[in-house]
Amino acid sequence: MHKKYILSLIVMAIFLVSCSHSSKKPGRQYFSDMTTSLAYETYSVNPVFKDGKTNQLPLAGTISRGHMPYDYAAKSADEQIRAGKELVNPTMVNETTLAKGKAQFTIYCAICHGEGGKGDGTLYTSGKFTAIPADLTSDRVRNFPEGQIFHVITCGSVSGLMGSHASQIKPENRWMIVDYIKNNFSVKPNK
Ligand code: HEC
Repeated sequence: MHKKYILSLIVMAIFLVSCSHSSKKPGRQYFSDMTTSLAYETYSVNPVFKDGKTNQLPLAGTISRGHMPYDYAAKSADEQIRAGKELVNPTMVNETTLAKGKAQFTIYCAICHGEGGKGDGTLYTSGKFTAIPADLTSDRVRNFPEGQIFHVITCGSVSGLMGSHASQIKPENRWMIVDYIKNNFSVKPNK
């Protein structure tokens, strides 16, 4: 009982000395690095960097996680061909990816290009969309390398009559659409 009494007195004493009389000043600090950060604050002056700022821009060429820069300009025949030569399809094609490609094609492309890719989708045949969708089974499009089709989905056609689908379709799904086109519209495979 006696020991407990002394112990509680000590605890109370610690509490009392911990507080400061002035509410403007902090009390005693036991672990000051927990109160005052050792790291520089984001907007504080920083003697380490030449420009004196803590908040530094990322190094040139930095790519944010999950973001792949797209280096091909829209509405340029040369750029469309360059994309066709350089872009590599990362998809490991299997039944699942082809089924996904078909589903995505049906959602995003068939309305203009038709289920069979002939360019006879309902938006066009109904007369609501007047630009003639390309026949994806034609020799011309059959000879498009995979990257070129990916580029058309990403940036639209050279003339701009078909618009970009980049905001609606994730890159990985664009490639699955490409695979679906290559495998189902008797298009010449290029890999
Ligand atoms: C709103 C209608 C529309 C939709 C949706 C659409 N397209 Fe097109 N597409 C067109 C038209 C129109 C053209 C012809 C453009 C031209 O002649 O410049 C075209 C052309 C193309 C071409 C040939 C490009 C070229 O340079 O000749 C490809 C390949 C193509 N589309 C693929 C697709 C794929 C894949 C999708 C789905 C992700 C899609 N399109 C969705 C209307 C559409």
